[in-house]
Amino acid sequence: MADKVTAPEIRRMKQRGEKITALTAYDYSFARILDHAGVDILLVGDSLASVIQGHESTLPVTLDEMIYHTRLVARGRKRALVVADMPFLSYQISIEEAKRNAGRFLSEGAAEAVKVEGGVAMRETIEAIVRIGIPVMGHIGLTPQSIHRFGGYKVQGKEKDEKEKIVQDALAVEEAGAFSIVLEGIPLDLAQEITLRLTIPTIGIGAGVHCDGQVLVVHDMLGLFDMYTPKFVKRYADLSAVMTEAVQRYIKEVREGSFPGDEHSFH
Ligand code: KIV
Repeated sequence: MADKVTAPEIRRMKQRGEKITALTAYDYSFARILDHAGVDILLVGDSLASVIQGHESTLPVTLDEMIYHTRLVARGRKRALVVADMPFLSYQISIEEAKRNAGRFLSEGAAEAVKVEGGVAMRETIEAIVRIGIPVMGHIGLTPQSIHRFGGYKVQGKEKDEKEKIVQDALAVEEAGAFSIVLEGIPLDLAQEITLRLTIPTIGIGAGVHCDGQVLVVHDMLGLFDMYTPKFVKRYADLSAVMTEAVQRYIKEVREGSFPGDEHSFH
């Protein structure tokens, strides 16, 4: 396995034809496990608004909360690249605010890159953040911070004009200097076309197998979050069931007096 993953290394992985693996992480213990398992990118996603904070969308999580969780994740990382999601309203108001807030993720959160949603509309913002030395991951397609404009979590880019718009978004993100781009919730043939046209790697979520890499929300793939399971999620474990069984055994043993045993007691 390669040494410390960096933003330039992620670009080189595409050139070498190596698939990129990314998972979300929100705290120290998870970050340590995922990093040790060998994942290339730890994304401190604003999905934490849903899976950690219990909100219905990603919109309510604040910049300070995101920076706090980024710091926890960074402490658990040795090899993976830590990318922090810029939350709603932290980069859309002005380029000055976007630069300052992106910088806080590096100086206070120990992130190594930030992620920004949006294509053509975010071109200048991405350029400005990159120009001050901060690697940017783009994010286009079904961008959750625009959920009210889309009218729900609907696959984007099915119609011809939408397809063309998404291709233009991808090209704008690459031209702005991003080192990679997330493609979310788009048909796999469109993701394939974008992956072939871009020199930066595409990281797919609900965008099919042709992307240069994949990302999933860790709570979804481990079966820790069952409020809803999108079609693109594969459950690699059922940790909810494992935890429920363990907690029920603990409750039973405490109630019947078989825990703590002699081996857990001091003499
Ligand atoms: O917030 C998040 O977890 C994300 C990924 C799903 C791409 O943006």
